[in-house]
Amino acid sequence: MLTKLNTEIIYDINENNIERAAKVIRAGGLVAFPTETVYGLGANALLGQAALKIYAAKGRPSDNPLIIHLSKAEDAEKYCFTGEIFYKLASRFMPGPITIILPKRDIIPFEVTAGLDTVAVRVPSNKVANKLIEKAQVPIAAPSANLSGRPSPTCAQHVIDDMMGRVDMILAGEECEIGLESTVVSVKNDIVTILRPGKVTYEELKSVCPNTEIAPAVLEKFSGKPLSPGMKYKHYSPKANVIILEGDYDNIVAFLSDKDECGILCFDSDTELLKHKSALSIGSEESLDEQARKLFACLREFDKREDITTIYARMPSKNGLGLAVYNRLIRAAGFETLRV
Ligand code: TXA
Ligand code: MG
Repeated sequence: MLTKLNTEIIYDINENNIERAAKVIRAGGLVAFPTETVYGLGANALLGQAALKIYAAKGRPSDNPLIIHLSKAEDAEKYCFTGEIFYKLASRFMPGPITIILPKRDIIPFEVTAGLDTVAVRVPSNKVANKLIEKAQVPIAAPSANLSGRPSPTCAQHVIDDMMGRVDMILAGEECEIGLESTVVSVKNDIVTILRPGKVTYEELKSVCPNTEIAPAVLEKFSGKPLSPGMKYKHYSPKANVIILEGDYDNIVAFLSDKDECGILCFDSDTELLKHKSALSIGSEESLDEQARKLFACLREFDKREDITTIYARMPSKNGLGLAVYNRLIRAAGFETLRV
């Protein structure tokens, strides 16, 4: 049974309050905090018992490991075995929206890595996140601050909706500027493998490390043993059934013309589709940044509507940051696409 906590929400984020939050973390408590990608649910990564509280608060399967967050890349050496490729990636992309998986050192408890002998390391660029880690003086283990199976939180209200009574403190900061979780890569035998696409794109990684590949599970339905436990869960799953539509815009308009009761996820320029009463735009078709920023908020908006049982979504681009938007949407859809 989960004991109900008296969650303190902090709207006034200043040095003093970040220091208080850092103390809660150091002492083994749970603090939700903003990052540039999505909000995180943090605990002291050196205390196995604190990490276990994260799984309970989120209802997260115990075999899905956590990312440790550091305030600077140079600290990574204390917690894992780095190497040339790590420093190449770190000097280009850290601090920022990338997570690198490396063999762990003994100091990181197995509760954090869900029993794996590797650990995922990230250095957030968000000032509040970075300061919190610095003041905590310990690495912070943090998954996204949503209930397991819900879209990741991109603003403080999403965290409050999911985590009230489950954490000690919420740093209610600004909306996340990226809106999708970090790019997760593993580094093995000088090969960089993308396990989860994000703001740091395949093209950018390849320009730094030519030996970069995309794990098959990023684009296709998972089968066999996953490289990353997170790949096998039906993530970002809204209550309604999501179906991605492929085909001509005119065919899509015709297909949806009599589907007034369905949710529609489309782009700003889809004026015909936006006439439907349950249509939402994730932004301009050209702005992948905007689509990334708005996707999860749109999925949460549909979740509030009990009457919507099916959501039809326009197919996003698979280039650059589009690959990350596509990856989240195709998972929300349980890999269901329909050609019209
Ligand atoms: O942007 C982000 O990465 C956010 C913010 C809070 O930093 N965090 C986040 O954490 O998205 P989470 O737990 O929701 O996703 C972490 C992913 C999971 O898919 C997990 O399976 C994978 O990283 N992962 C973590 N450690 C791993 C490891 N040692 N080996 C393979 N995959 C790992
Ligand atoms: Mg997550």
